[in-house]
Amino acid sequence: MRDAAPTTIHLKDYEPFGWLIDSVHLTFRLDPGKTRVISRVAFRPNPATRNRDFRLNGEHMTLIRASIDGQDWKPHVRDGILTAQVPDAPFEWVAEVEIDPAANTALEGLYMSNGMYCTQCEAEGFRRITFYPDRPDVMAVFTVRIEGTHPVMLSNGNPVDSGEGFAEWHDPWPKPAYLFALVAGDLVAHSDTFTTVSGREVDLNLWVRPGDEGKCAFGMEALKKSMRWDEEVYGREYDLDVFNIVAVDDFNMGAMENKGLNIFNSAAVLASPETSTDDNFERIEAIIAHEYFHNWTGNRITCRDWFQLCLKEGLTVFRDAQFTSDLRSAPVKRIRDVIDLRARQFPEDQGPLSHPVRPESFQEINNFYTATVYEKGAEVIGMLKRLVGDAAYAEALDLYFARHDGQACTIEDWLKVFEDVTGRDLSQFKRWYSQAGTPRLTVEEAWRDGTFTLTLSQATPATPGQPDKLPQVIPVAVGLLTPNGDEVRATEVLELTQARQSYSFDGLTARPVASVLRDFSAPVVLDHDLSPEQRAFLLAHDTDPFNRWEAGRALAGQCLLDMITEDAAPDTAYLDGLTAVLRDDGLDPAYRALMLGLPSQSELAATLHQRGLIPDPQAIWEATETLRQTTAQHMQDLLPRLRAEAQIEAPFRPDADQAGKRALGSAALALLSRLDSGTQAAADYACADNMTLQLSALSCLLKAGKGEVELAAFYDQWRGDRLVIDKWFGLQVALAAPEQAAETARRLSAHAEFNWRNPNRFRAVFGALAMHHAGFHHASGAAYQLLADWLIRLDPVNPQTTARMCSAYQTWRRYDDDRQALIGAQLDRILAQPDLSRDTTEMLTRIRGS
Ligand code: TRP
Ligand code: ZN
Repeated sequence: MRDAAPTTIHLKDYEPFGWLIDSVHLTFRLDPGKTRVISRVAFRPNPATRNRDFRLNGEHMTLIRASIDGQDWKPHVRDGILTAQVPDAPFEWVAEVEIDPAANTALEGLYMSNGMYCTQCEAEGFRRITFYPDRPDVMAVFTVRIEGTHPVMLSNGNPVDSGEGFAEWHDPWPKPAYLFALVAGDLVAHSDTFTTVSGREVDLNLWVRPGDEGKCAFGMEALKKSMRWDEEVYGREYDLDVFNIVAVDDFNMGAMENKGLNIFNSAAVLASPETSTDDNFERIEAIIAHEYFHNWTGNRITCRDWFQLCLKEGLTVFRDAQFTSDLRSAPVKRIRDVIDLRARQFPEDQGPLSHPVRPESFQEINNFYTATVYEKGAEVIGMLKRLVGDAAYAEALDLYFARHDGQACTIEDWLKVFEDVTGRDLSQFKRWYSQAGTPRLTVEEAWRDGTFTLTLSQATPATPGQPDKLPQVIPVAVGLLTPNGDEVRATEVLELTQARQSYSFDGLTARPVASVLRDFSAPVVLDHDLSPEQRAFLLAHDTDPFNRWEAGRALAGQCLLDMITEDAAPDTAYLDGLTAVLRDDGLDPAYRALMLGLPSQSELAATLHQRGLIPDPQAIWEATETLRQTTAQHMQDLLPRLRAEAQIEAPFRPDADQAGKRALGSAALALLSRLDSGTQAAADYACADNMTLQLSALSCLLKAGKGEVELAAFYDQWRGDRLVIDKWFGLQVALAAPEQAAETARRLSAHAEFNWRNPNRFRAVFGALAMHHAGFHHASGAAYQLLADWLIRLDPVNPQTTARMCSAYQTWRRYDDDRQALIGAQLDRILAQPDLSRDTTEMLTRIRGS
């Protein structure tokens, strides 16, 4: 059976479904090639609408039989839609279908991974399991019976019965089909319990393949911390007797919040000191929290339709960021999130894929699980909280949970609770949800007779389908510093609502230095024309940790741009300022490690483009390398001291404290390796006893053009561990010289262990290639072509992962005519493939533009 025909769905066309569902009973007779699914659904007319069209979604399945109230029925099935004449009264629908999990390589619906059955139903995967109104506003109570011979057979909710060859589950909470899950296979559990605030005991299980038991302890601790945190901070208690997490090797994304049965990409949950880096640990902790937090923000309160995706995703990302800030370091988390936002969301918002946080149309919803919906969506919530204050935010959230529990909601419902609690009109604020594009915030300063005036103006560039933009509400946190570095006053949040507005600060004895957009209080591009001296001053004195870091970042950025465009020498003001900060051992090592980072090469390309210049990826690469080399020389004496500080005597712990020290040590080793051509890194590699140190030493060696022996030894040591071997693949591409990157990826794609059907492995190689700015954009065009070859190959197998990888090309209009011609040819070549998936077609059509 074919996919549904590609059509554009619009937010404005929303209509409720004509039927409500009282209960769903599903029976699965598991068989790899021909699983039978019997559904029994109690429908009744929905009083909210008069439209009684009976339309069920169903794709990639064979209908065996259907009946209504016990009578055989002959429905009409076409293009993924089943229609039937039905009574205008409550009735029981029964259907039996056959599906083929073993042939399901798309990893949507019911599929198999290493002999294990598992499901992925968000957003529209349930329609590959049986005929059903596969839309989030249809919520129902599910009972599931699984028939098969597997030692472990799981579904949502609580276990109700099991025996020889079957297991039954019942989920008392009404839910949309996208939260359905089923797992069956030969799994082992790492188990624990959690006692909720009201004293209920919950069984916790982390299910993994035999052999992975040793990688569960960290994830389990993260789960318990998340459960406690949500009780303490949001007053949210868990609502079932069991909470199961399953690790799966073949998975399109990070993890999925299915009610009571979260399914995780094994890379997003399995961890051990020997095999996982500190960054892996932090990410795993955050994803476990994220999925757990969805239990309230997503599951108990869900989305009316997929246009409202940010309702659950923006809020849940915001909540998991709060959690990480509380458990680790708030400034470090904020800086990392802004780095990530600029690396992933800004390019999206500033290119052909730009779309509002709440999109207004789509062809394939899978293409809208984006950095804009997730990360910008979280930024919007952060702004809202900053505008209304912490107390009102807490009150609004309580009202949200009280008012909307059990409902499928919209952004209007969300904003209304804030309006009701604060009495504030949020209609202008709502533009953050409807206007795409990154606003540019320009700051002008004036100083006269003891009065300092800041004039702020905003402008949002045109984006596809949105030529003209209206002013948004931008909270701009501002601090003023005296010439000796004291704060003049507490940080103030200026609310910019007009295109241009001035704010005066009087009674000052000397002209202050303004620290604008503290804590990155809004997701904008800041245009504040400070002198290098003023930036160096903020780098030395700003009390806002984010803006102190940002001052160093801006200095580095300016220094690199001058090197690129004017062939300037590296700026000593930057190098001196940076060295002073790194010398200050009163500062958190993690924070100092972040200070050593440079703006990414693609960020520099974006800045050049915004200034009307054409970025040359090779020149950007060379400037970055030169600045790195100069920094190493400049800090030569300091590096051994930083390394000494990073020494840890205690046993390995993946906490913020130790991770920060290791991050600083790794950053110092990377600089040192430019001076000693890898001697120290080779010594460090030989005695590394955790993956963070092992990988950082190996990276330094490869970067120095060494490490062939170590690379081979690494492979032999870890050949049985798929997650570590992913790192082995990715590292080689990431660290290749620009002219070698495509060839390295090609060579690795011919490796016996390159299983391209596995999304983690595919991304290890081709994700790394796409992220290698100078390598991907090498003038030969080899990387453009290689990626296109592989996208063409992957598309029929896994459209979702193919479509996501297409975003590698999204910045193509920034570059010179030759590169645009090379990329354009590849886009056309992929688009010309017969039977290209709806996912990939939509992505490439948008990227190509008209
Ligand atoms: N809702 C999931 C999350 O935010 C992500 C998700 C959406 C997903 N679609 C998916 C995960 C498809 C895997 C596959 O955590
Ligand atoms: Zn999510």
